[in-house]
Amino acid sequence: MRTNYADDFPLLKNSSENGKRLVYLDNAATTQKPAQVIEAVRNYYGQYNANPHRGAYPLSEKATKVYETARERVAGFIGAGSPEEIVFTKGTTESLNLTAGAYGMDILQEGDEILISIAEHHSNLIPWQAVAKAKGAKLQYLYTDTNGKLTREEIAAKINARTRIVAVSQVSNVLGIVNPIGEIVKKAHEAGAVVVLDAAQGIPHMPVDVQALDVDFLAFSGHKLYAPMGIGVLYAKKEHLSNMRPWLLGGGMVDDVSEQTTTYTDGPAKFEGGTQNVEGAVGLHSAIDYLEDIGYEQIGRFEHELTGYALLRLQSIPHVTIYGQESGHERTGVISFNIDGAHPHDVSTILSSDGVAIRSGHHCAHPLMRHLGVNATCRVSLCFYNTKDDIDVLIESICKVREVLKLGAK
Ligand SMILES: Cc1ncc(COP(=O)(O)O)c(C=O)c1O
Repeated sequence: MRTNYADDFPLLKNSSENGKRLVYLDNAATTQKPAQVIEAVRNYYGQYNANPHRGAYPLSEKATKVYETARERVAGFIGAGSPEEIVFTKGTTESLNLTAGAYGMDILQEGDEILISIAEHHSNLIPWQAVAKAKGAKLQYLYTDTNGKLTREEIAAKINARTRIVAVSQVSNVLGIVNPIGEIVKKAHEAGAVVVLDAAQGIPHMPVDVQALDVDFLAFSGHKLYAPMGIGVLYAKKEHLSNMRPWLLGGGMVDDVSEQTTTYTDGPAKFEGGTQNVEGAVGLHSAIDYLEDIGYEQIGRFEHELTGYALLRLQSIPHVTIYGQESGHERTGVISFNIDGAHPHDVSTILSSDGVAIRSGHHCAHPLMRHLGVNATCRVSLCFYNTKDDIDVLIESICKVREVLKLGAK
């Protein structure tokens, strides 16, 4: 069994930061790309590049074919009933805006409630704020407990007959906590509400089956899943997609246009106005192949062990506070922490002088920062190509921070 995957990623093999080996621990922001994905994109431009769904000549047909084959691959990957339920977007942000703008705007009425969690990324918050405001609906929040978890009691207390939409992340991009989606879906559906799942931080780490989860909408970004930037997915149950009005108007999504009126095509194309990101779709297809070759079981085992090791080592450092659950269970390798007296930006700058790349700031989650009572945190986010050696370098560097900032040892 393989134990090191970093060699598959050209950037990880070749890069240094500040003269040190790059220790890339910002995978929740974006992942590096394996050679086979880079090669697939290169091949696309070398062999198939044309505008899809436009030309009647063979090259355009080839571009159409690889684009639609990628859609089929994504559908199979997430257990969708049909490729018709897969809309390609720019990423999670666009997928969620599309859902709020095309679905939420149509079905919500004054007094209805939209329920999200306090831990949502702004991409799964601001669109709902805007729709709530436009429609006179109320935006309600599920609050996390002291371990960053959404409890059964909180879920039961907040979902009611006025709830029309529940939009939550599968995994928090700040705390790495895996949310109880089964419980949320059950309660939401009992109340007649639909569930929108932001899987941006879930799908890179665990298998997702939309039919088993029974979610109504699901969004994710290719670039967090080892695929190129600029490609993302919105899955929606067919009944929702067929009833939704188009959102981005332009070429490629119409049946007929007269001077004053337009009729729209059916299926995902209705939501894919303009020239599509075929290279992104091809790269996403290749990334899914790569991931499935390794297998989620292996990825999960690896990442669970790494996360446990990182948590253990971080817990052993005085002056370090970890936010959220401190055990390796029901969580991914996203770990937020602070060092007493040190601003997270200073911490990440000091770490970067040792080649360690982490994220510092509010992580596009202002309401969660306020709920946690902090302005910002440092965030390490691991994935299967990281190693215990990466974590040892991180810990050694963290141990220097207070000394460098003249706050005392460790
Ligand atoms: C949970 C979550 N949702 C949404 C997003 C937005 O993703 P993107 O910037 O790829 O649209 C992110 C990005 O970090 C995220 O972590």
